[in-house]
Amino acid sequence: MKLAVVGTGYVGLVTGSCLAELGHNVTCVDIDATKIGELNNGVVSIFEPGLTDLVERGRRAGRLRFTTDLGEAMPGSSAVFIAVGTPSDSSGRADLSQVTEAADGIAELMDPGTLVVVKSTVPVGTTRHVADQIHQTRPGVDFEIGANPEFLRQGVAVTDFMHPDRLVIGTATEAAEELLRHIYQPLIGAGVTTLFVGIETAELIKYASNSFLAIKLSFVNEVADLCEAAGANIDEVANGMGLDTRITHRFLSAGPGFGGSCLPKDTQALLHTSQVLGAPSRVVAAAVDANRDRKRHMANKIAAAAGGSVQGKTIAVLGLAFKANTDDLRESPAIAIVRSLIGLGATIRAYDPEAVDNARAVLPTIEYAADAYEAIDGADLLVIVTEWPEFATLDLSRVYTSMASPVIVDLRNLYNPSDMAELGFAYHSIGRPPVGLPDDSP
Ligand code: UGA
Repeated sequence: MKLAVVGTGYVGLVTGSCLAELGHNVTCVDIDATKIGELNNGVVSIFEPGLTDLVERGRRAGRLRFTTDLGEAMPGSSAVFIAVGTPSDSSGRADLSQVTEAADGIAELMDPGTLVVVKSTVPVGTTRHVADQIHQTRPGVDFEIGANPEFLRQGVAVTDFMHPDRLVIGTATEAAEELLRHIYQPLIGAGVTTLFVGIETAELIKYASNSFLAIKLSFVNEVADLCEAAGANIDEVANGMGLDTRITHRFLSAGPGFGGSCLPKDTQALLHTSQVLGAPSRVVAAAVDANRDRKRHMANKIAAAAGGSVQGKTIAVLGLAFKANTDDLRESPAIAIVRSLIGLGATIRAYDPEAVDNARAVLPTIEYAADAYEAIDGADLLVIVTEWPEFATLDLSRVYTSMASPVIVDLRNLYNPSDMAELGFAYHSIGRPPVGLPDDSP
């Protein structure tokens, strides 16, 4: 099928290249001429494992094209996916201006009968608004509408697209459902659980899922605090909880608070929608508050590990991205932590395998190291913020000898506390008793 995808951010580019991989002829459109120029040369500027190969394969097969001209993409396309950003505005509401703009362009250029699919994460009711908008621009022209939210995690987005837990297809007509069934036939035929639901239900499945994940994380992070206060071990508590098949182990790793471009934004948007519709989401509100406080609290935890103050100390920070396998810093706990530590008088030397270029714009005054060991060399304290696999396999003897004082604050629980104590570190982690402190009896 000939398809168009509007927007070449994480979601649009992964969607477009995966749809091409499924055998469709896809044209991706973006207003950013630089990005389109790069993509036409096979250059993918975001770090997403597997994506460059997929783009290359689609281009070589002649099934994947990139353009700034919607007029090139729309004629002959059976369906167009809107996959533009829906960032939070200052009140936490989803800013839908990019969706509206895309819908305007599509309305003018679409062939009669085109299916317009909203892939972007949008508040419930938006897809119908898009339909109304298109009606107003092209009265009398038939078209179909669908809501098809994505559940892609950055870092594993290609795998998530190709092997999803479920597909959610929200439509109001059989014709729209049929078109989407056809588009996703390779996945449906391979046995992927597919939900055919109403448009509003599809929109809400997305927000409810992301909000539930946020609640799960804020909850486990609070249990981690409880573990610290009670002398228990969060990893063991989470394991004990996760063995209950109603809970599962997934999304139970305590850490410095959730970040990224989705959970923080989508929880805010859900709260806004709840308010507008008069159906309060008190549990989500609590999860959001707890997460905000947590990110702030992390700097105090680090200062406490440094003996009460970080004033004048050099702190090595490993990891700036909001999680491993991405170069994305949006809402990353590392930003809040680094800024607070600078405010408390520390000097920061940071390293991240992929996010340094993006970090320079956000944190311009800190020092950047070429690798983890350069960041650690001579540091008074080492803080691990992101769970990059390479940080879990550091040569700890080398780390020990190169630090000015062997104090580690591991916000991702990458190491075993008793191993760290044996190596001579003062080791602080999340939801587990600190070890190797000066007053510890051997
Ligand atoms: C999230 C959802 O997981 C996807 O299903 C969804 O499609 C996506 O948002 C979206 O709406 O587009 P993503 O933002 O890529 O995906 O990141 P997650 O893997 O969900 O992680 C979010 C945050 O939670 C990160 O800061 C991560 O470090 C943290 N986290 C995650 C933990 O602290 N512990 C965990 O056990 C899991």
